[in-house]
Amino acid sequence: MDTPASAARKARVLVVDDQRNMRATTALVLRAEGFDVLEAGSGEEALAALAGQPVDVLLTDLRMEPMDGLTLLRRAKEVAPHTQAIVMTAYGSIETAVESIRSGAYDYITKPFKEGELLHHVSRALERGRLLNAVQLFAGEFSKRHELSALVGQSGAMQELTARISRVAPANATVLVIGESGTGKELVARAIHALSARASAPFVPVNCAAITESLLESELFGHAKGAFTGAVKTRRGLFEEAHGGSLFIDEVTETTPAFQSKLLRVLQEGEVRRVGENASFTVDVRIVAASNRDVEREVQEKRFRQDLFYRLAVVTLRVPPLRERLEDVPLLAQAFVERANQRNKRPKRLSSSAVEHLMTYAYPGNVRELENLVEQACALAEAEELGPEDFPLRRRPSGDHPSPPPTSAGAPLNLADAVGEAERRTIVAALEASKADLARAAELLGVSSTTLWRKMKRLGIKTPADPVLS
Ligand SMILES: Nc1ncnc2c1ncn2[C@@H]1O[C@H](COP(=O)(O)OP(=O)(O)OP(=O)(O)O)[C@@H](O)[C@H]1O
Ligand SMILES: [Mg+2]
Repeated sequence: MDTPASAARKARVLVVDDQRNMRATTALVLRAEGFDVLEAGSGEEALAALAGQPVDVLLTDLRMEPMDGLTLLRRAKEVAPHTQAIVMTAYGSIETAVESIRSGAYDYITKPFKEGELLHHVSRALERGRLLNAVQLFAGEFSKRHELSALVGQSGAMQELTARISRVAPANATVLVIGESGTGKELVARAIHALSARASAPFVPVNCAAITESLLESELFGHAKGAFTGAVKTRRGLFEEAHGGSLFIDEVTETTPAFQSKLLRVLQEGEVRRVGENASFTVDVRIVAASNRDVEREVQEKRFRQDLFYRLAVVTLRVPPLRERLEDVPLLAQAFVERANQRNKRPKRLSSSAVEHLMTYAYPGNVRELENLVEQACALAEAEELGPEDFPLRRRPSGDHPSPPPTSAGAPLNLADAVGEAERRTIVAALEASKADLARAAELLGVSSTTLWRKMKRLGIKTPADPVLS
């Protein structure tokens, strides 16, 4: 049992009872034991005290007027969530105790109680509070380390990137993440959020390329009931959902100048107005935006507003393409094999010749392409050890040119086409492996069935097993 004298700061106990004598005696016992004791004669007074300073233990009577003990417990959870509450009850009925615990009390003590009993309960509550704090601290640290370690890679470029992420994350500055498709921009955005003080608030992603402009507007800003056909009720926007947290605006360059100026206004004013409403309100949101285009060129060519660019690019983080850091391939491939092993029944391992083979490729689809290659290999290979033959790299190996120029061999010239081609091949392979079982194929590919279905439609892939698609 811990005594208050051993703590760095005197533990503080708030005694709440409308009966003055009872309160004074309880306080006296606790003071004699070295606690810092506050007293309150009502629930209202107690809440004011809780709001004013940190309190370790709240010891409250249940029958009080006008605010009863249960109400106090519930309100106290909001004002002082870390305070451990004990109720003192003259009615030692189980129901009262159960109800108190439901309202947020940790323990109860039946009146009249002896000195020793009181001290025992208070010390136990203190101990619990300290433990919970330690666990939370540990969990916070753990999640921080976990988020950065989600970004696999030890190359100089990745080390520099993770160092920059750690530096900018705690600030509230807007961050623009740029990099080719599949390089890990979303992972970077998540790491920034997880390492910020906003980590426990929501991280809300929105992909500007995935929906139409008018939908995007109501998605982000929300809309009033009747703002347009189909707006049957008022809807909160993602800016509101992300309040206190971070909003990840993905593919921000895929928007029109008209939309961009609306976004700019929100960023400048920190205020959001729902579509179809006149009043605006403030939101506290950290913005992380991403693009796989050369944003400065988009600005020069007047497809992206310069003022919005400056607003977003307070800090710019560039995620290098995988071909510029092929030394990360072994670690990444290993990480993906381990992940697949957790899902698949038959564990696989990489041979060194497979790793060497994987390092000769330029990965136009970047990390995502490597990820897909590994998942496919893990799902399809017969042997436990994966060899080079399990990784069919159909495009030109990187050779002397890290970024292969367009070839006459029929490889697409355009990056999006190339990625589409890689997607098509991967999807077809997964459909073959799963005997056209969409759900199974989606599992192999690591995407949802809806995503798979959408992609198949877009890429024009048909399966005889599913007439909907043909
Ligand atoms: N450094 C990394 N370590 C581990 N996994 C990674 C890394 N980079 C990317 N990935 C994985 O690769 C895939 C693509 O990453 P992500 O979605 O973050 O890319 P992106 O840059 O946002 O791509 P796009 O521009 O196509 O949206 C994800 O499954 C992600 O988990
Ligand atoms: Mg992305």
